[in-house]
Amino acid sequence: METELLKADIEGIKKGATFIKNGFQVGFPTETVYGLGADARNDLAVAGIFKSKQRPRFNPLIVHFYKFDDVLKYVELSPTAVQLANNFWPGPLTLVCKLRADSDISPLVTSGLKTLAVRIPSNQVALEFIRLCGTPVAAPSANRSGKISTTNSIDVLKELDGVIPAIIDGGLSEIGLESTIIDVSGKTPILLRHGGTEMEQLEMILGSLEIRKQSKLVNSPGQLASHYAPDTPMRLNVKTRNKGEVLLGFGPNESDLCLSKNGNLTEAAVNLFSHMRSIDILAKKVGASCIAVAPIPDIGLGMAINDRLKRAASND
Ligand code: TXA
Ligand code: MG
Repeated sequence: METELLKADIEGIKKGATFIKNGFQVGFPTETVYGLGADARNDLAVAGIFKSKQRPRFNPLIVHFYKFDDVLKYVELSPTAVQLANNFWPGPLTLVCKLRADSDISPLVTSGLKTLAVRIPSNQVALEFIRLCGTPVAAPSANRSGKISTTNSIDVLKELDGVIPAIIDGGLSEIGLESTIIDVSGKTPILLRHGGTEMEQLEMILGSLEIRKQSKLVNSPGQLASHYAPDTPMRLNVKTRNKGEVLLGFGPNESDLCLSKNGNLTEAAVNLFSHMRSIDILAKKVGASCIAVAPIPDIGLGMAINDRLKRAASND
């Protein structure tokens, strides 16, 4: 299959939406990372996502909506969920909610769970695309399972060339990290994944927020320890690099590639995944045995950056 790069103009977006209506998968931009979309109500189309990504079937997908009223047709929103939606949608927040009994979402999307992860993205191309698809769009990040997420169309092409018919080229993802995921299906909200919506902002609305520990991750099988992995091993919180290591920096100190010279976390988030790809290539080129990564402050977006780095460095 030839993979076509579509412009993010009305023609390109329309063409992408037509592929979705016909049961295909399409790469599309969001403000977090690129998504690999398919019609969430079409079993075969959703099965195609798992096949294209080589994703285990037990790992459920997030469904993307164009407007709030549409979300209500598919899930039950608790008062807390409504409050979060009012404050953070459209934007980088995913809510895990009770699936409505009358929903026609493909059971493959939820991996058979009774909950559904939903979000309304803020990226204008994403919104127009979903609107024209005329159906909820199931979309994981547009990368091979376990590999680094993509923040531009060229990286999507590198991951999925020949596997999907089209990618909408919407430039660089504005945030660069996946959405924050909160489970609001039970009595108390639980953070399942750090992401583009900062913990501090969430705590302003919710008070303190329970974080699900690794050992209790039965409800979020996708939060496997090893994820986002470059081929070269990584070593984190490195102040002084060892011989034979390449250094991914943060701040003004000398490095091979730097997430942000000014120590700006927003900039570091935008750069994280593409720099992880680039430094992996550099490491292989110079024969480095390890990618050393400078310390990143564990506040704001730094919490999500550190979470992704930890998973990238994990051998589990
Ligand atoms: O920013 C994002 O969230 C991007 C863009 C494309 O929207 N999407 C994304 O999808 O990161 P993905 O599939 O790479 O990550 C979704 C995570 C997985 O870890 C999955 O296990 C979890 O969400 N998830 C999905 N449905 C769930 C559910 N019903 N309960 C618990 N976790 C769920
Ligand atoms: Mg992913």
